[in-house]
Amino acid sequence: MSAARKPMMMGNWKMNGGLQANQDLLRALRAVDCSAQVRAGACVPFPYLSQAQAEWQGSGWAWGAQDLSVHDKGAYTGEVSAAMLREFAVRYVLVGHSERRQYHGESDDLVANKAKQALAHGITPIVCVGETLAERQAGQTEQVVKRQLAAVIHVVAHCVSEMVVAYEPVWAIGTGQTATPEQAQVVHAVLRTQLSAATDRAQTMTILYGGSMNAANAADLLAQPDIDGGLVGGASLKADDFLNMISTAQALTA
Ligand code: 13P
Repeated sequence: MSAARKPMMMGNWKMNGGLQANQDLLRALRAVDCSAQVRAGACVPFPYLSQAQAEWQGSGWAWGAQDLSVHDKGAYTGEVSAAMLREFAVRYVLVGHSERRQYHGESDDLVANKAKQALAHGITPIVCVGETLAERQAGQTEQVVKRQLAAVIHVVAHCVSEMVVAYEPVWAIGTGQTATPEQAQVVHAVLRTQLSAATDRAQTMTILYGGSMNAANAADLLAQPDIDGGLVGGASLKADDFLNMISTAQALTA
């Protein structure tokens, strides 16, 4: 982390939750106000946005969505528009998560247009990039993440500095196999250099790490100069674990 950037700890609930469990989690998190030092929140399934809004409105916690449509409105069954997300005061939206690239065939172009659509509606896209295990083993990590980010930079143009980037190596997601802090830092530095070529505000931009981040490994990851926070899956579903990680981030700002 760098003093130039306020850390962000963002949960990604993925397709988990239920009204009662969410209420317990949202309330346990809300009880802790960390907003002075950390931007904390969660990206929740669409049906629970109103619940997150009701529980967290007026707190320092931010809620987000996990996807959005590139279209404004119309005959796109199953899709959710940026304007709809705005009605629930959504501040962040994940775009290009590897699970959407992998299971829903999302291309670099589609991801870029989703980021553009979010920005056009005042929602901060958290643009996810990351290589598969096969790509890493073939020595293609840098090439893959640069290609994924370049597509977005090209499409969002002068708004580049308004987005958040998340590096999530696919092989580290949900596997318990975290990238080492050094492996992650190398890629984060590559991404920041790439951003620097597109905006003079790259030093203020947030680049999150995601992939089996937990209370035990967060401190070492967050200590890296270009890791500005975490995009946390499984561990964000447990209030104690997530709060523990957030206090780790808080401590590093002290
Ligand atoms: P895990 O933290 O469960 O590995 O998930 C990471 C992730 O995909 C967050 O978007």
